[in-house]
Amino acid sequence: MIATLHASLIDRLRRAQHLAVFTGAGMSAESGIPTFRDRLTGLWAHTDPVEVATPQAFRRDPQRVWDWHVHLASAVAAAQPNAGHRALAALAGKLPRLSVVTQNIDSLHQAAGSRDVIELHGNLFRLKPFIDEDAAFEAAEPPVICRVCDGYAAWRDCDPWASREDFARLRLAAGPVPRCPCCGARLRPDVVWFNEMLDPQVLDAAMSAVDACDAMLCIGSSLEVEPAASLPWRALRRGAAVIEVNPQPTALTPHVTALPGTAAQVLPQLLATVWN
Ligand code: APR
Repeated sequence: MIATLHASLIDRLRRAQHLAVFTGAGMSAESGIPTFRDRLTGLWAHTDPVEVATPQAFRRDPQRVWDWHVHLASAVAAAQPNAGHRALAALAGKLPRLSVVTQNIDSLHQAAGSRDVIELHGNLFRLKPFIDEDAAFEAAEPPVICRVCDGYAAWRDCDPWASREDFARLRLAAGPVPRCPCCGARLRPDVVWFNEMLDPQVLDAAMSAVDACDAMLCIGSSLEVEPAASLPWRALRRGAAVIEVNPQPTALTPHVTALPGTAAQVLPQLLATVWN
């Protein structure tokens, strides 16, 4: 399949000064982490995201949302980077710049050794305060910003003895939903839930990487969730060479060079054929 790559495309890839690699849940499938939309095995095949992955769900039942993320984290924490993650980390050493723009929240790119990683949808193992916009905007006086968690302080007076180190020691683990040790704001995983906006600075960094790349690998995404899904199209419109790695076709497939296979199979072959 790699042998079908046109010589001109191989040449473009070899001359690339900046390769962007856009990844979705399929990138981690061979590490044993369920994707979201694969028909029988996807996470959303058995759980309604509205119940466990929205701010409304957390406001309604924070413990249930917390417990679901703890369950997901137990599967993710046991996972190891696969041959695809490792191939991308090795490739970064062969190019002037390789930016990974991932929708994944599992830290596997970093665990494989990738350094330039932009996490569009956050990271499951980082915590942040739950900002209850409704409550904050109902507050008469402007909300108190906590000096430890940077959230809207749930309590009016923060604990003067609490520190950022206390906050940094808190983990996504089984048990009651933790609170900021200083202001009492409930904590949540630092991931982008449905009905939430992406961090604008993260999205800007991703768009800058896409706008600067000569070529893009689009790996393991159904391209169904915006604004992430627009990034490969953005690269294509700019004239970058785009290669898609996915065992299933997507809306992008007819417009790019498609390598119909899995990340752990195709990426090591691509590295060996094009860059070795
Ligand atoms: N290698 C490459 N691709 C694979 C593999 C594999 N081993 N296994 C499955 N795939 C492909 C599937 O064919 C599918 O196109 O990975 C894609 C997974 O699609 P989704 O489950 O929709 O995951 P993703 O595109 O990352 O979802 C985007 O949706 O639920 C939200 O925030 C969540 O980041 C996620 C976003």
